Amino acid sequence: MRRGMLLLLRSSALRNLLRTSAFFLFFGTVLMMASTLLEGTFRAFRELRHEEELKFLYFNNETGTDHFIVPNIIHLIRFNKTEFSFVDYICTQAAFRNHRPDHFYIHTDSPGGKFRGKYWELIERDLELRSRIRILPLEPPSEIYGQQLNPEWRLYHGGDIARIRTMMKYGGIYLDNDVYVIQNLDKYRKFEIAINWDEGQFLGTQVIIANRKARFLPLWLDSYREYHPEIWYYNAGERPTVEILYKHPELVHRVKVQFGADFDLSYNLYTYKEFDWRALDTIHLMINHRHYMDPYYNVTPFFDENVVKNYPYPFGGMAREMVAASGMENFIDKKI
Ligand SMILES: *[C@@H]1O[C@H](CO)[C@@H](O)[C@H](O)[C@H]1NC(C)=O
Ligand SMILES: *[C@@H]1O[C@H](CO)[C@@H](O)[C@H](O)[C@H]1NC(C)=O
Repeated sequence: MRRGMLLLLRSSALRNLLRTSAFFLFFGTVLMMASTLLEGTFRAFRELRHEEELKFLYFNNETGTDHFIVPNIIHLIRFNKTEFSFVDYICTQAAFRNHRPDHFYIHTDSPGGKFRGKYWELIERDLELRSRIRILPLEPPSEIYGQQLNPEWRLYHGGDIARIRTMMKYGGIYLDNDVYVIQNLDKYRKFEIAINWDEGQFLGTQVIIANRKARFLPLWLDSYREYHPEIWYYNAGERPTVEILYKHPELVHRVKVQFGADFDLSYNLYTYKEFDWRALDTIHLMINHRHYMDPYYNVTPFFDENVVKNYPYPFGGMAREMVAASGMENFIDKKI
């Protein structure tokens, strides 16, 4: 047996064959090791890049990215408000039809996550819209970093805090309940965070479009460690502007005018017939302030689909557009 093997090994052809296969085996092993090593390096590199992207190191707040980094979710926060008003309806429809989000997340303390009223029922019947709405339970905060919120303003100061936390949890597009969306907002979804900050003013929080990892958000929340319960807009607007943005304006994509947060713009909605509202991307209706803004408030103290038929100021046209686009009158004729 052994002798037979030795005889065979002596055959030079077989020796060559063995040598060649040993060579390939060695070479193959080296190649495999090298590619595993390279792959690992590439993976580590990719993860690092992804992480850097999420950390927004060197992020350009002027140009943004070439792809969407903000999820197409519109967030609404409704505290202590189970009934949908006509204006709530109009604003929800405008956000749906003019922006086209994938989802609406409504964060609310409403018992059982239920809403009521004729206008909520109309939303329930708008199946395309309704199928996009998710209702999520959320209690209004009562304190921040161990400091009690001003009880009189709990829902407002609590709402300010809740929107920062909501942005940090999900990212997306936060809208106040009386913001009317005029144009598609996708162009802002390419920034770490886009926020209203008009010339010479503090930032405005009615519209926030942000990735959940936006660096500004935890700094903003952290600035509540010094909470001033007696000042209406200190922690939401003044402090983050002065303490954070004056020093680091590169943290945000500063939006001037286009979010329609300035009081003078809202004022036009009820007073100036020629107001070119379509040039804006969104506008704050300031509906709870209309009683002192609108000189003719007493003529039409509240709005509904009938009142707006003849309302001559820009809000009338904006509301009529949504009444028509949503087809709500077909549903109303069927008697809700
Ligand atoms: C909740 O709303 C009701 C009626 O709209 C109001 O009377 C009450 O004060 C509100 N609660 C808080 C905590 O603001
Ligand atoms: C971007 O950041 C710079 C500071 O680096 C700031 O001066 C500029 O206003 C910011 N631009 C926008 C659009 O926010």
